[in-house]
Amino acid sequence: MTNGKPGSASEEEPLRGTLYGIGVGPGDPELLTLKAARILGEVPVIAVPTSYSDAGSMAMEVIAPLLEERKRSHRSPEIVSLLFPMTRDETVLREARMRNGELLLGALSRGDVAFVALGDILFYSTFGNLLTGLFALRSPVPVEVVPGVTSYSAAAGRLVEPLVQGSERLAVLPAVYDPSEIEEVLERFEVVVLMKINKVFASVRDILERKNLLDRSAFVSMVGRPEERVSRTLDELAPGSVPYMSLLVVRKNGWLK
Ligand SMILES: C[S@@+](CC[C@H](N)C(=O)[O-])C[C@H]1O[C@@H](n2cnc3c(N)ncnc32)[C@H](O)[C@@H]1O
Repeated sequence: MTNGKPGSASEEEPLRGTLYGIGVGPGDPELLTLKAARILGEVPVIAVPTSYSDAGSMAMEVIAPLLEERKRSHRSPEIVSLLFPMTRDETVLREARMRNGELLLGALSRGDVAFVALGDILFYSTFGNLLTGLFALRSPVPVEVVPGVTSYSAAAGRLVEPLVQGSERLAVLPAVYDPSEIEEVLERFEVVVLMKINKVFASVRDILERKNLLDRSAFVSMVGRPEERVSRTLDELAPGSVPYMSLLVVRKNGWLK
């Protein structure tokens, strides 16, 4: 047992494995890269984030066909759940980071570990948080990254619209709590992607209406999954019905169609 601080027992154990950070894409198993599929077909341990948002279970659903295949050939990996509490309490967050870091170091002392997350693994992903905890406990740790298709690339694909072209500039914002910030970004960029909009949907919609941008805004949720929804009419969306896995694409220069 270790105390989760630098210098703890796990620091002394030799690491036999590499940590693979694997972006599994936005939800469609066919958007998993060949490299991701190869590594996930081989590693002895797959680590998955758990939190209130279901993102971890969605990542597991993406790789379910691959896990089925491994089960059929009696090569099922060990699945390790890593908890990422949704809080701003720094003590709770630090404890979780250290606990996750300890769990990973334990697994890495036995062999390779693949950590999976939706979309791209370094784009608003729990993987960054995981590395912070891991490197606080031990450095260097062998890490390899397998990029994934981001949700906004997949969304543009479903809209069949260029995201940006020519001299257009793109801004991507996470949940924005200060409306003036969105307004300022909408002034400066031709294309704006708004992520994590579920809790702020009503106020964002009001801003877009005020700026006459409603018909230049598209909503995409659960892209690549059976529950996928694509809408160019924000009016038909009740704020309470907007899932966490939703985003808006605003194209000030308008759509092709
Ligand atoms: C924690 S971020 C993860 C981003 C992810 N790493 C990526 O590359 O897209 C979660 C946000 O990504 C967006 N998102 C992720 N998957 C999505 C999907 N399948 N459909 C629509 N939006 C998605 C939503 O805006 C969601 O609130």
